[in-house]
Amino acid sequence: MNLTDNTILITGGASGIGLALAQRFVRAGSTVIVCGRRADKLREAQQQVPGLQVRACDLASPAERVALRDWVTAQFPQLNVLINNAGVQRRLQVADPEDWATRQQEIAINFEAPVHLSELFIPHLRQQDYAAIVNVTSGLAFTPPTFAPIYGATKAALHSFTIALRHQLRDTRIEVLEIVPPAVNTDLGGTGLHNFGVPVDEFADSVLARLAAGELEVGFGTSEERRLASRSELDAATEAMNARFS
Ligand SMILES: NC(=O)c1ccc[n+]([C@@H]2O[C@H](COP(=O)([O-])OP(=O)(O)OC[C@H]3O[C@@H](n4cnc5c(N)ncnc54)[C@H](OP(=O)(O)O)[C@@H]3O)[C@@H](O)[C@H]2O)c1
Repeated sequence: MNLTDNTILITGGASGIGLALAQRFVRAGSTVIVCGRRADKLREAQQQVPGLQVRACDLASPAERVALRDWVTAQFPQLNVLINNAGVQRRLQVADPEDWATRQQEIAINFEAPVHLSELFIPHLRQQDYAAIVNVTSGLAFTPPTFAPIYGATKAALHSFTIALRHQLRDTRIEVLEIVPPAVNTDLGGTGLHNFGVPVDEFADSVLARLAAGELEVGFGTSEERRLASRSELDAATEAMNARFS
């Protein structure tokens, strides 16, 4: 992937991994638009990254996804890269009763939104000389986390969807890429829950270098090991990880 001269929408790009990617793409000479629900985070991101474009949007809502597509493609007709990065992680016990609308949100944000946005943006991306859809999954797509069962399932689903979409678009100019983060030190799931993770800048530097080198699926550290592991290695890694949470 060429890092310069793109116009890129990064969902959830006002914090964490998305913001670190936005900073680097802007520095490399691309225009970046980020979206998210919190207006204060969007304003802070704009102050941190000169030239960053922002849009408030709740991707759990199908109507807001359509409105986002309409706004972005009208304001930035040269848009050629969609990065499906927005995500939430909820730690829960499946057997604990909960309002379904609350539980369903995690599936809507992490899985439905990337699937829907892909469909919405493909006609626009087809018009560009070079285009890409980049999905942010997780090392947990490969090792199901017992502490966050829905989260892991949405990421496994998005990994599967990414491979299928890449195949379906193989004869177009749209590349389909996947970023597979390990635990990264961001506020995912709540402040402090991921402070054992790798520094976000170190992770983002590595991702950009590997995307620039033309790799289609990019992990880091443990997630690089997991995306390449055998089934027995994955079973052992899953057991070891979940033993720490039981
Ligand atoms: N950090 C890790 O350890 C790790 C590991 C593997 C994968 N990942 C993945 O990396 C991606 C980025 O996460 P992060 O670690 O950078 O955490 P983060 O800082 O919490 O970023 C998540 C972003 O998604 C946005 N978002 C959440 N729900 C949204 C919604 N309904 N509509 C629009 N935007 C929404 C959030 O903004 P608002 O709250 O303002 O909407 C936030 O900016 C996620 O897909 C996550 O699953 C992270």
